[in-house]
Amino acid sequence: MIELTGLRKVYASPDGDVVALDGIDLHVERGTVHGIVGRSGAGKSTLIRCLTGLERPTSGTVRVDGVTISDLAENKLRAARRRTGMVFQHVNLLDSRTIAANVAYPLEVAGVRRHERAARVAELLDLVGLGDRAGAYPAQLSGGQKQRVGIARALATEPGVLLCDEPTSALDGETTRQILGLVRDLRDRLGITVVVITHEPAVVRDVCDHVTLLEHGRVVQTGALAQVVTAVGSPLSRALVPVPDLPPGDRRALVEAVFSTDAVPTSVAFAAVAALGDDVEVASATVEPLGGVRVGRLIVDAPTGRVPEVVERLRAAGLDPLAVPTATDAGREVA
Ligand SMILES: Nc1ncnc2c1ncn2[C@@H]1O[C@H](COP(=O)(O)OP(=O)(O)OP(=O)(O)O)[C@@H](O)[C@H]1O
Ligand SMILES: [Mg+2]
Repeated sequence: MIELTGLRKVYASPDGDVVALDGIDLHVERGTVHGIVGRSGAGKSTLIRCLTGLERPTSGTVRVDGVTISDLAENKLRAARRRTGMVFQHVNLLDSRTIAANVAYPLEVAGVRRHERAARVAELLDLVGLGDRAGAYPAQLSGGQKQRVGIARALATEPGVLLCDEPTSALDGETTRQILGLVRDLRDRLGITVVVITHEPAVVRDVCDHVTLLEHGRVVQTGALAQVVTAVGSPLSRALVPVPDLPPGDRRALVEAVFSTDAVPTSVAFAAVAALGDDVEVASATVEPLGGVRVGRLIVDAPTGRVPEVVERLRAAGLDPLAVPTATDAGREVA
């Protein structure tokens, strides 16, 4: 479990102080995959570096599995760091070592005996699906395979927490899916907590249980995936549930609702629109599984003057509608 309380990080720079983290309160449940999204410079990497103890907070506390990392003296930090495995976008493998020897490296540093090391390395390579490539060198591997080695190496010291900073940004779509499948599988099999920084909506949608949006070092939105995407008009809902490009046509005004189809069946939503008469139309309707629920997004096209009536009718049907100027100006990328 991870608990951040009032976490602040201020960097001194020649141009003055940079507030990278400005009072972060965040709780990450054990055994969950937590996504961190936000624009470049939002403070995502700083947050992860504070979690590993690589960076000392200016103020506030960082607790990982009951240990207050932010209070530890330098000499205790090294041992504490073994509790968190790190995976980066670019895996820095030692080219002169086989992949088995790369995975063994953190175990050597930790003083694990040779025969124990060998057994553990074999187990780790099996875990990431590279059991038959132990003797290969990094140059002989694909990008996805290298990332698997990076994950095996990060897990070598049996950390309770795996921290991933853009782990799949350098990989193609299919390889990304495989790596994310592996991460989820590891979470299920090892019960580890995973924090993953990403700018790819697909990563959040496919692998995260919870997600947090950072802006200027602050938490703008956080919660379970199903909950944040059904918060209509919320930045994460916009970013994670695609808003279709509607043809311009002779559109008048749009009203949008995002909902769990468990709470409001699509037939009920459609019936509410139908009851409004012929000049009110469904401009777009999508339903897709996300965060363990089926998420519907309904966009209704109506004469401008009837918007309040549409909103009221949809609300009566159990939806939480919002009048939007246009649906097409919403961004698709995560922040
Ligand atoms: N060592 C440092 N010294 C001074 N400023 C820093 C340092 N590291 C980060 N910063 C600043 O802190 C802010 C947050 O940086 P951070 O790297 O955490 O952002 P990020 O969200 O990871 O961005 P990106 O998506 O580009 O990786 C930025 O304004 C950055 O310039
Ligand atoms: Mg970063």
